[in-house]
Amino acid sequence: MTLPYNFSPGPAMLPPEVIEHIRADLPEWHWHGIGQGASVMEVSHRGKAFEQLMAEAEADLRELLAIPANYQVIFMQGGAWAQFAAVPMNLLRADETAHYVVSGGWSKSASIEAAKFGRVEVVASSESAGYTRVPARNDWLSTYGINSAIRPIDEGASPSSYTYVCSNETVFGNEVHTLPEALASPLVVDASSHFLSRPMDVAACGLIYAGAQKNIGPAGVTVVIVRDDLLDRAPKNIPSVFHYKHTIEHKSLFNTPPVFSIYATALTLKWIKAQGGLAEMERRAVARSTLLYNAIDNSELFNAPVETADRSRMNVVFDTGNADTDAAFVKFCDARGLMSLKGHRVRGGMRASIYNAMPLAGVEALVAAMREFEATLA
Ligand SMILES: Cc1ncc(COP(=O)(O)O)c(C=O)c1O
Repeated sequence: MTLPYNFSPGPAMLPPEVIEHIRADLPEWHWHGIGQGASVMEVSHRGKAFEQLMAEAEADLRELLAIPANYQVIFMQGGAWAQFAAVPMNLLRADETAHYVVSGGWSKSASIEAAKFGRVEVVASSESAGYTRVPARNDWLSTYGINSAIRPIDEGASPSSYTYVCSNETVFGNEVHTLPEALASPLVVDASSHFLSRPMDVAACGLIYAGAQKNIGPAGVTVVIVRDDLLDRAPKNIPSVFHYKHTIEHKSLFNTPPVFSIYATALTLKWIKAQGGLAEMERRAVARSTLLYNAIDNSELFNAPVETADRSRMNVVFDTGNADTDAAFVKFCDARGLMSLKGHRVRGGMRASIYNAMPLAGVEALVAAMREFEATLA
């Protein structure tokens, strides 16, 4: 069976080897070769095998990202939207302000959600530029960084609880390629749509979270990595399922976890390790995205609006400048087995989501379709 190349932004393509493993394992889950008598969706999350699976998933994640010992790994539910709320619930102190860098719709939504819980200030935004770039580093680092020589925190301003950034804006296709260091408050990163596509400096962050459904698994589980010293900030009255320390104390098993999502994520982590880890994921991401951006830049028809330095390696946004031509191109691709290239409804145009599981051949097929389509218009 030949399937189309799937450019869906999420839920997104998983490695075929992982899908095949799941298919074979579906009637009866085998944990390290031992049949469990039922599928993974039908056994207790408190059984030894599932507890071991979670411990192994955490160990694999720690190894892949070189997570320092003073960080905890949590598996939570509710997607990134739950984290939009959980982050301020746990970290935003009553007499402090949360500082948000807005580089797209997701970080904007996160800032609006956080404002339900306390004081929020948008430090820098690229909204007026149509999110075609990440706000210039000096706009926000100089304001709230320790090295804030340019515009120090105003006298009397409330201290910063954390600085928030979305390191890959899925809809608009911009990516923070290097995380800032030496901020005045802990950096909180929504890494959902490029998580594990590259090595990441965990020690530069206070908290990182990522919904699984782009790069590492099916929807349903969100990975949270949080530094120990931030865990005692949470007030006692927040709901148990949002409480980081409480969740950690229960080893992410306070209530029934999304067992299938965690299982499939655990398999994907093993797949990433077997492929050569995050250095190899990054090499592939660079190869795929360079090929596609070069094809767009060298074409007369297509245009990539995001500034070169901030272009996402995962979500390549492009258009022809004409909505009808965009729609015709998406249809042309569909007929060639290149699916889900339509851009997000708020952005329009096209978006090719090329996560870890996308083979280079998929991008080569897309580039060939772009050339063919352009030739039909000549
Ligand atoms: C970067 C980013 N943050 C947050 C979200 C929201 O995720 P969820 O729908 O899982 O809550 C998405 C969804 O695509 C996303 O791409």
